[in-house]
Amino acid sequence: MKLTEITTKSGKKIEVYDDLFHPATINEFYFDLRTMEFPLVPQNDTSVLDFQGVFGFGKNLDPALMMGLVKRAKDAFPLHSFLKNVKVHRSWVNVFNGQHPTNRYHCDQDCIENGDFVSMLYYANPKWDLEWDGGTVFRSDDYEEIEYVSDYKPGRIVLFDSSIPHKIYQTSSLAHPYRFTVNTIFKNENLKRMR
Ligand SMILES: [Fe+2]
Repeated sequence: MKLTEITTKSGKKIEVYDDLFHPATINEFYFDLRTMEFPLVPQNDTSVLDFQGVFGFGKNLDPALMMGLVKRAKDAFPLHSFLKNVKVHRSWVNVFNGQHPTNRYHCDQDCIENGDFVSMLYYANPKWDLEWDGGTVFRSDDYEEIEYVSDYKPGRIVLFDSSIPHKIYQTSSLAHPYRFTVNTIFKNENLKRMR
């Protein structure tokens, strides 16, 4: 397990976990995700018949699936101890298609300022090249500066204060057309942990 910790200028935390899973575990979980059926996700103001307005595919996921995966993480004491003190708020799968890139900067949970929620992003594709880009960009609270760019690395988990503005770093034209992530949001019962 490798942990990289970032603190934003406003003191919010981003924790990046690598080397958590055996490659076979990453493959198995990806297979489970990619064999699910996904509804189209239209923008609010467009008809689903207008595919210009469809920005991806996504669905809610049983949080037990993601928690089951995390339990299989090797030597991930900080992550496991964090998860003991939180309650799952929701979990969902995002399938991003680079040909319809309408992802915008946003905060999870409506930019609630006080660190009440923590997001756990899991990069699910088992193969991803450096040149494909497609990570996650985090910005300062006033959106003026980039605080951190996480590469998309298979099996990586990024734990962050849900109120940090972020968006998908656009995938390059070389990338696999479907970028799978699972985002799980926790209600933080141990507020000091992520501030
Ligand atoms: Fe998000």
